[in-house]
Amino acid sequence: MRQHIQEIKKIAIETFVMDKDSIHGVHHWDEVHDNGVMLAQQPGVDVLVVRLFAYLHDCKREDDHQDPEHGDRSADFCSSLRMKGDLDFLTSDQFTKLWTACKLHHTGSVTEDPTVGACFDADRMELIRCGITPRVDLMNTPMGKRIAQKMNDLREFKGRTIIEEKILKLKELENARQIALGWFYKEEFTEEEYLLRIGEYKNLEPIEIVNLILKLIREM
Ligand SMILES: [Fe+2]
Repeated sequence: MRQHIQEIKKIAIETFVMDKDSIHGVHHWDEVHDNGVMLAQQPGVDVLVVRLFAYLHDCKREDDHQDPEHGDRSADFCSSLRMKGDLDFLTSDQFTKLWTACKLHHTGSVTEDPTVGACFDADRMELIRCGITPRVDLMNTPMGKRIAQKMNDLREFKGRTIIEEKILKLKELENARQIALGWFYKEEFTEEEYLLRIGEYKNLEPIEIVNLILKLIREM
C-alpha cells in the first residue's frame, strides 16, 4: 500500500500548479493523511481510500481562496488517473468513494458513508491551521465529532490561551499535531485533568509537552 500512496503523492505534486508550501499545499496534504490514518481506526473506514484522498483532494487547486471548482477538477483528475491505469489497484467501489470524497469535500456535505466521512473529517480537522475549530454538526464520523467537540470545548476554557499557544508550538514538531489530536480523542481524559496536569508546566518547551502528553496517554 505504501508504494501506491508514494506514487500517487508524487503524481499529485507534479500536477500541483501552486506553491508547494501554500496553505493548501503538500504540508496540508500530509496532515490530512495523518488525520485520516487516525480516523481510519473506526469500523468501516477504508484506509487506502482515505490516504489517497489526502494527496488528491486539493492537488487541482488554482488558488488558496474558495476555488469552487477544485473539487470537480480533483474528481476529474481521479478519473483520468483511473483511465491511465494509475489507480488500477482500487476496486470500483473504492474508486467511487475516492471520486465522491474529492468531488464534494469542500461543499459542506455530510455523509453516512464511513470512508467518505473520514475523508471529509480528516480535511476539516485541518481547519485548526487557520485558527478555525471545525463545526461538530459538519463532522461525519463518531471520532471526528468527538475531536471537533473537544476542540470547541477547549476554546471556552479559562486559560485556554496558554493551551492554544502550546498547541500552536506543537505544530512545529513532526507528528505533534497528531499526538495532540490523539489526546483530544481520549474521551476519558477531560480538559480539566489536562489543565491540572499541563497547567503546572507552563514553562516547558514544546518537545517536553509532547513527551508529557505521550506519557499521560501511555498511563491511560
Ligand atoms: Fe484540504
